[in-house]
Amino acid sequence: MGKLFVADHPLIKHKVSIMRNKETGPKEFRELLNEITLLLTYEAARGLPTSEIDVDTPIIRTKGEMVDDKKVTIVPILRAGLGMLDGVLSLVPNAGVGFLGVFRDPESLKAVEYYVKFPQLTDNHQIFVLDPMLATGHSMNYALDVVKSKGGKNITVMCLLAAPEGIKVVQDAHPDVDIFIAEVDEKLNDHAYIIPGLGDAGDRLYRTK
Ligand code: URA
Repeated sequence: MGKLFVADHPLIKHKVSIMRNKETGPKEFRELLNEITLLLTYEAARGLPTSEIDVDTPIIRTKGEMVDDKKVTIVPILRAGLGMLDGVLSLVPNAGVGFLGVFRDPESLKAVEYYVKFPQLTDNHQIFVLDPMLATGHSMNYALDVVKSKGGKNITVMCLLAAPEGIKVVQDAHPDVDIFIAEVDEKLNDHAYIIPGLGDAGDRLYRTK
């Protein structure tokens, strides 16, 4: 089974609490999501491979380690995943970005694809799939199927909030994938919203409601 990491950190709890507040506007919401993504990326990137290099300090030649961030691909699930993209890119600036547009059919709650544009993936690429809200797990499973169909192998999911139901759905279908989450909430409601959650993350990011 892949790793399940829940941040459980006072700074993240503080920032998530502000994001949950319905009075928090899009500017602050975006900034906080970006900050939390930076903190999550720090943890999720621990497993990135490094290669040894020689470095000449002003005193002596020594060994250093470098991450090959050209072998990292970030896949934000449109549209809310875009809110996490800059946070990852600021730490791995040369990563490729694969865009995947998926929406949730309001009747069936199943994922429907509307846009796919990926860089070339190879076996040794490290892939970070981003969606702030892991609710039913259907969109995430769909995204993971797409990433794997394009050759993706070393995959880490990063989310802000998750429902226990969604985590289980993803772990059952993709037991090889690591999951990094800022906080795990109580449950889903009848409309597949995360409870207590923060509402619709896309609408909160882009003031579409
Ligand atoms: N997507 C959201 O944006 N919010 C939820 O609560 C569930 C899915």
